[in-house]
Amino acid sequence: MVEAWYMDESGEDQRIPHRQEPHRPVSLEQLRRLGVFYFKLDADNYETDPDLARIRKERNYSWMDIITIHKDKLPDYQDKIKIFYKEHLHLDDEIRYVLEGSGYFDVRDTDDKWIRILIEKGDMITLPAGIYHRFTVDENNYVKAMRLFAGEPVWTAYNRPADHFPARRQYIQSLAQAAQ
Ligand code: LAC
Ligand code: NI
Repeated sequence: MVEAWYMDESGEDQRIPHRQEPHRPVSLEQLRRLGVFYFKLDADNYETDPDLARIRKERNYSWMDIITIHKDKLPDYQDKIKIFYKEHLHLDDEIRYVLEGSGYFDVRDTDDKWIRILIEKGDMITLPAGIYHRFTVDENNYVKAMRLFAGEPVWTAYNRPADHFPARRQYIQSLAQAAQ
């Protein structure tokens, strides 16, 4: 099961958990209200998994590849790690499915506080277009993940501030509607 919590404010190593004291867990329901969805899948059998096939069909995730984030596997690893951890948004949903290893997605809540989401083997997470977020490996320094996309992938990340994009405005509107 995916685990999430409010982050502390310390500027220490991005790869440590950054839990607050006392711990402030965030539920799947709270994540859903931010438009963040979660699926648990069988990562050992991803090539033949009917549940993954169904999700891809229903959500039109026609495109996928597999990325390995590790210093010996990913070209320009140090630069990439820094880029992934810069607060940004995309104009499309970001969908990641962890096949091995683990890492953290951080997302902003409606009060602009950071929520840290631990994703491990078997966790699929979808971040909505327009949400500010960032990613880091954890202290294990290794994650192998499937990247999925509805249609042809667009990798452009817009670093904050990027509030003028329609995708951002639509996301803010959807939050306001969900709160009613
Ligand atoms: C991405 C992650 C790092 O945009 O948020 O690929
Ligand atoms: Ni992103």
